[in-house]
Amino acid sequence: MIRIAMLGSGFIGRFYADSLQGYRNKDKIVSVYSRKEESAKKFAADYNCEHYTTNMEEAIAHANVDMVCISLPNNLHEEAVMLCCKHNKAVMTTKPLGRNAAEAYRMLQAVEEAGIFNGYLEDLVYTPKFLKAHESVKNGALGRILWAKSRETHPGPHSDWFWNIELAGGGCILDLGCHCVEITRSYIGKDILPTEVMCWADTQVKPIDAEDHAIALIKYETGAIAQFEVSWTFRGGLDLRDEVMGSEGTIWINNFLRTGFEMFTTGKGADYVSEKAESNTGWLFPVGDELNELGYNHMFMDMFNAYESNKAPKETFYDGYVVNAVLDAAYKSAKTKLWEPVHLDVWRGKTGLSKQSHLTEYDADHYLVKEEVTHYGAKKLILKNKKTGKIEERILE
Ligand SMILES: NC(=O)c1ccc[n+]([C@@H]2O[C@H](COP(=O)([O-])OP(=O)(O)OC[C@H]3O[C@@H](n4cnc5c(N)ncnc54)[C@H](O)[C@@H]3O)[C@@H](O)[C@H]2O)c1
Repeated sequence: MIRIAMLGSGFIGRFYADSLQGYRNKDKIVSVYSRKEESAKKFAADYNCEHYTTNMEEAIAHANVDMVCISLPNNLHEEAVMLCCKHNKAVMTTKPLGRNAAEAYRMLQAVEEAGIFNGYLEDLVYTPKFLKAHESVKNGALGRILWAKSRETHPGPHSDWFWNIELAGGGCILDLGCHCVEITRSYIGKDILPTEVMCWADTQVKPIDAEDHAIALIKYETGAIAQFEVSWTFRGGLDLRDEVMGSEGTIWINNFLRTGFEMFTTGKGADYVSEKAESNTGWLFPVGDELNELGYNHMFMDMFNAYESNKAPKETFYDGYVVNAVLDAAYKSAKTKLWEPVHLDVWRGKTGLSKQSHLTEYDADHYLVKEEVTHYGAKKLILKNKKTGKIEERILE
């Protein structure tokens, strides 16, 4: 541990302090569980862990462990969560929480009954760009949120179990759609009820039982609509893009493939470029700091700060459960080709909302349709007469 005297506590002092304590922090992995002994041993050596094991319960029950971080295949999340409850250990689980809403609900009930800290590790609502964009949305810079879209596509995951529908619980809808649902839901408002889902899904390229490509629409009670596009068949790397549209503005975010860092190499000395990059020669789009750009730093900061102050983090098992419920409706809709309702056994947000008014007041007699300054310098107003319903045009010189 390095002990630092920070001289100055203003703007740059605080930047330095965030950086120093974020990257050289006091949190420590003390125990690691892995299926294979050699993997556990290597991880322990790489990260200087005092204990490694091939017995999951032993890692969780280890006396020095305060909090468990579940980074296991989807089919093992529930078993691991139940062991955390048994041993009264705080728990953070990677996405998706469950393979379906029933599994997620059992995990939610178990952690809440056990009274243990629970965090849902949805890193993409902690990326620097998301945090900034979300702040603007919350401050009203976009007005009333009408549409939020999230796209996550790549050439497919890296381990065998993802491609096994039984172990993974689904294909790209579950694996990638979980990110998109939580991103769009956060922009629309996590207290706004998602009501119905319409989804197209197909297996276009891969020799698997699950879907490798899907597009869906999610309706919310305010009338806002979310959209996701997910694929395990996309060529060209990891495409992470979000869009939010409101009555007063728009945000477009490209999180990964175009971050303002472009590079060409013939391949001499070529190495790792970024997650799921398909090439390390030619024109490349590296990512400067993946840990930060993917939200992991801000996510763990939120988790640990919340744990230490006995509060819930921004993302809890409840959020993971809502995400699973939305995705269950997407799977159903892909089969029935109908809008399918989202079934939530427990809803903690607002209720009884109705579609927000689309009418903008202009004056006592008119609604505003549009105003525009033309290329010839005239200010044009298009109005709707409240009484007659007639559309009128006015030109203000
Ligand atoms: N951005 C993200 O949030 C993100 C990214 C990738 C993966 N994930 C999630 O993390 C979890 C793990 O994914 P991963 O990519 O690390 O997988 P992985 O295959 O790379 O690692 C799985 C780990 O689980 C262990 N394991 C224990 N029992 C196992 C079993 N029966 N079969 C297979 N592995 C077993 C393995 O030893 C290995 O250490 C999944 O739930 C996945 O959805 C999240």
